[in-house]
Amino acid sequence: MPGFEVFGAEERAEVADVLDSGVLMRYGFDAARKGRWKARELEAALATRLGTHHVHVCSSGTAAVFTALAAAGVGAGDEVIVPPFTFVADIEAVLWLGAVPVFAEVDATLCLDPHAVEAALSPRTKAVLVVHMCGAMPKLAELVAVCQKRGVPLIEDAAQAMGASYRGRALGTFGLAGSFSFDYVKTITCAEGGAVVTDDPALHDRVQAFTDHGHDHRGADRGADQHPIIGLNFRLSELHAAVGLAQLRKLDLILERQRAHKRFLKDGLADLPRVTFRELPDPDGDSATFLSFFLPSEAEARQAARDLAARGVDGCFYWYDNNWHYHRQWQHFKDLVSPALLAVKRAGWLEHLHAIHVPQSDALLGRTLCLLIKVNWTPDQLAQRLNHLRAVLA
Ligand SMILES: Cc1ncc(COP(=O)(O)O)c(C=O)c1O
Repeated sequence: MPGFEVFGAEERAEVADVLDSGVLMRYGFDAARKGRWKARELEAALATRLGTHHVHVCSSGTAAVFTALAAAGVGAGDEVIVPPFTFVADIEAVLWLGAVPVFAEVDATLCLDPHAVEAALSPRTKAVLVVHMCGAMPKLAELVAVCQKRGVPLIEDAAQAMGASYRGRALGTFGLAGSFSFDYVKTITCAEGGAVVTDDPALHDRVQAFTDHGHDHRGADRGADQHPIIGLNFRLSELHAAVGLAQLRKLDLILERQRAHKRFLKDGLADLPRVTFRELPDPDGDSATFLSFFLPSEAEARQAARDLAARGVDGCFYWYDNNWHYHRQWQHFKDLVSPALLAVKRAGWLEHLHAIHVPQSDALLGRTLCLLIKVNWTPDQLAQRLNHLRAVLA
């Protein structure tokens, strides 16, 4: 997920433009900023790129998912259906809102299984939070159908999926709201940053207000703004937005190279009988940030991860043991819940966190390896990588 691999003069020029104006904050100081509104410009460019009505940039992908859930009305005691394979930020956001994460299985797409989601729905379900892990999609048509049938909003965490699409439409734009991350290791980066996207104008208003202490942003005088809701400060600075603007202009180049590199490695492994690939419901829409595949057993996957590391093959992830992407290492959620959750804990609604039961996901992730795809690999580096992979996986 390597926007940082293509840093150059374009990012420096955008940052210099902000420094010239001397206004680093996204709101106010209208006269001083000499027409430079980087956060606004980034929002407009993202809206065009993603084909969505509203985009609001904020300080991180974590802030974005928190804000999207808050703006969707998720609160104390509500249930939110989440996958066990995600980034901890999603579970943190649900817990800090005083809500209850309900884990549903992932399938061979490595994303939420629509059947498992349907089975996990209850009268207390306030939202389904799908995560487009490793840059690609779940069985999205089925998932959207389940949510629509049951009248439950879908929120998409597309932090890892900038540039990905399903049947021609950008991931992040299928639900009530979507969130993105622009942290340092994402497909495009602002160093730190995020965005909430939606077609719902009322939700967009709440998102804007929430990330800026509840300001309604209606008048020219910030000091005279009304505060219809209680918010926080999740604002993105103009400096960060400037970097994001330069990066967004490079998105097509990044995607093109990632896709070519992934195709080379995937084609080169296609004849190996032990290797089967992650299911991609729309292969053309894959952003190709990772090549994810399954080995026949957990023991073989563990051994392959060790062998690849011994050969110096970097960026090879065995998520099953990872402490920020898979539920098995999240003991701290089970013992130490957020203060906002004390009432929920006392009501006994968090007992299930002590024994998260997702055998289908455990069986899949136990034999999954994911290889990070880089943008700047040379043909030699790619060929060498394929040789190592074949030697280990054959
Ligand atoms: C799926 C997912 N959601 C949310 C986040 C949080 O983004 P950030 O690091 O910008 O807070 C990440 C970051 O890795 C992520 O991978």
